[in-house]
Amino acid sequence: MSSKILIIGACGQIGSELTYKLREIHGKKNVIASDINTRKLDLVNSGPFEIIDAKNFNAIKDCCKNHNVDTVYLMAALLSATGEKYPMEAWDLNMNSLFHVLNLAKEGTIKKIFWPSSIAVFGPTTPKQQTPQHTICEPTTVYGITKQVGERWCEYYYNKYDVDVRSIRYPGIISHKTMPGGGTTDYAVEIYHEALQSGHYDCFLSESTSLPMMFMDDAIKATIDIMEAKPDALSIRSAYNLAAISFTPKEIYESIKKHIPDFTIEYQPDFRQAIADSWPSSIDDSVARKDWDWKHDFDLNTMTAEMLRELGKK
Ligand code: SER
Repeated sequence: MSSKILIIGACGQIGSELTYKLREIHGKKNVIASDINTRKLDLVNSGPFEIIDAKNFNAIKDCCKNHNVDTVYLMAALLSATGEKYPMEAWDLNMNSLFHVLNLAKEGTIKKIFWPSSIAVFGPTTPKQQTPQHTICEPTTVYGITKQVGERWCEYYYNKYDVDVRSIRYPGIISHKTMPGGGTTDYAVEIYHEALQSGHYDCFLSESTSLPMMFMDDAIKATIDIMEAKPDALSIRSAYNLAAISFTPKEIYESIKKHIPDFTIEYQPDFRQAIADSWPSSIDDSVARKDWDWKHDFDLNTMTAEMLRELGKK
């Protein structure tokens, strides 16, 4: 039986598009999708699917054994805003799911792991502009703490047990297929939906809050590229800085207004403003560009055109 890929958290914003892309590359039957429930029916019906709670070691292990899985993409997580509401749940899910897959690799059940980190590993004491790969990381959110600690464990398992784990620090991801859930950068997706649906958006961040962002196509390309890179090319086994574009709510609003002139916005910052304020405005990802030839394709205006075109069809 040929070896297979398992995606945990396949119904989520990134997991769903990753599943479709990996199925395109490797063939449907070689990519097993899993999530805690069947909330995304088109995804569930698009190929092999298993219900798996990412906190359940035996459920993951059984699935890997039954399907001869050698590569796992662990995409299940509680994000920054939800994590602040449910700190212990975020710690429990984000950390234990990671330990489960790291330990499956350590014992030889699987061979390779992708685990996403985030710009949330940074905090208020981190340099805000062009944040370097190696810098102060004092995150102030539970989500950020889980990602920072997770990075340390990934590097530890690589050094100690030779576990082939690869990771990138995703910025905010913008996509038109599946909604994000519970993140601080979610506004940059909601704004397109509201521009088309009601012509008005109440933004939960202030107009000048600049954050690192990326269009989904670029995020999927980065994920697949780092997994296909030769092991020797990778100098970082914690997580790579990854960047594409940075913009403020005002700048994304203006890029949408070029297509929808009557679009209006109001700024009503809530608790997520403090989270955004603790994160960098822009990221230096030169190490990823050097090690595995990372480059992005979409800037703010090409992304806006694509988002409005695709959402407009729905
Ligand atoms: N998009 C994430 C969040 O806002 C950051 O990794 O929580």
